[in-house]
Amino acid sequence: MSEKRIPVIIDCDPGCDDTAALLLAFRCPELDIRAITTVSGNVSLDKTTYNALRVAEVIGTDVRISPGADRPLIREAVYAPHVHGEDGLLGIDLPAPGKKASFYKAWDAIYEEAVAQKGQLEIIALGPLTNIAIALAANHDLAGMIKRIVIMGGAAQGGNVTPCAEFNIYVDPEAASMVMKSGIPLCVCGLDVTLKAYLTAAEIREIRALGTPQAELFAAVTENNCEKVFCPAGAPLHDPAAVLFAADDSLFTAQRCWMGVETQGTITRGKTVTDCWSDAQKEANVELVLDVDRERFAARIKELMAGY
Ligand code: RIB
Ligand code: CA
Repeated sequence: MSEKRIPVIIDCDPGCDDTAALLLAFRCPELDIRAITTVSGNVSLDKTTYNALRVAEVIGTDVRISPGADRPLIREAVYAPHVHGEDGLLGIDLPAPGKKASFYKAWDAIYEEAVAQKGQLEIIALGPLTNIAIALAANHDLAGMIKRIVIMGGAAQGGNVTPCAEFNIYVDPEAASMVMKSGIPLCVCGLDVTLKAYLTAAEIREIRALGTPQAELFAAVTENNCEKVFCPAGAPLHDPAAVLFAADDSLFTAQRCWMGVETQGTITRGKTVTDCWSDAQKEANVELVLDVDRERFAARIKELMAGY
């Protein structure tokens, strides 16, 4: 691992797997987390922001939390209470946060950090890409200052909201399309890899047995995973996969290809379009993450959670 830590902003919509991802990210020695930004996604912006504040207290960080968009760029908001509960954290009893969200909006925090980090800032995007699209639209020079965006979203094949669309892209396809066309180096951790990046019930029990409040929260937000239809073997950790990729991509397999986003379709809304292998006619714009060494992935998660 290179000694220099990676300056990152985590843009998220907590959300159960976002919560697991935040718990892990703050234990990754490779990451220098400069801010958390929140977006409307799994639940409304006020709830994702409130949850980020509560989770930050459990983690013990006072990193700034900047709220962003309370709806997609042009479409109505879509939420996922059937996965994350009405409050976004399955009703898990966490104390109210002691601190308030930053006055700075997400897109301002992203731009400010990009300038401060002089082209080294990376973004780990765990929700709909609305905040990033707004930041790009508002600052013509931003794209040239973002080193990389690691996106949890999309899928070369399949979907979890419709047969062809993954939630984060489905919610705001226009924002996703803007990011895909931005020219920023992109790594896409879609369902192709995140449905392989799971923890078994026994592995979740091992984490709970660590006995810390952080381990208890990690277990509580992962054990009730109701996506069994997509991943019968265990709880797919969509957002943690993106965080672990950002910190150490040696656990994963990726390949360069072209990817676009369907914004005009009705039944194909939010489909990430690629066939991975024959995009010779188009210039590759993403690193598409397709596989993970699951045993090493699970071991790394246990190691990180033992760090609390
Ligand atoms: O499709 C899974 C993604 O959508 C995850 O980021 C989850 O938190 C939801 O935002
Ligand atoms: Ca998310």
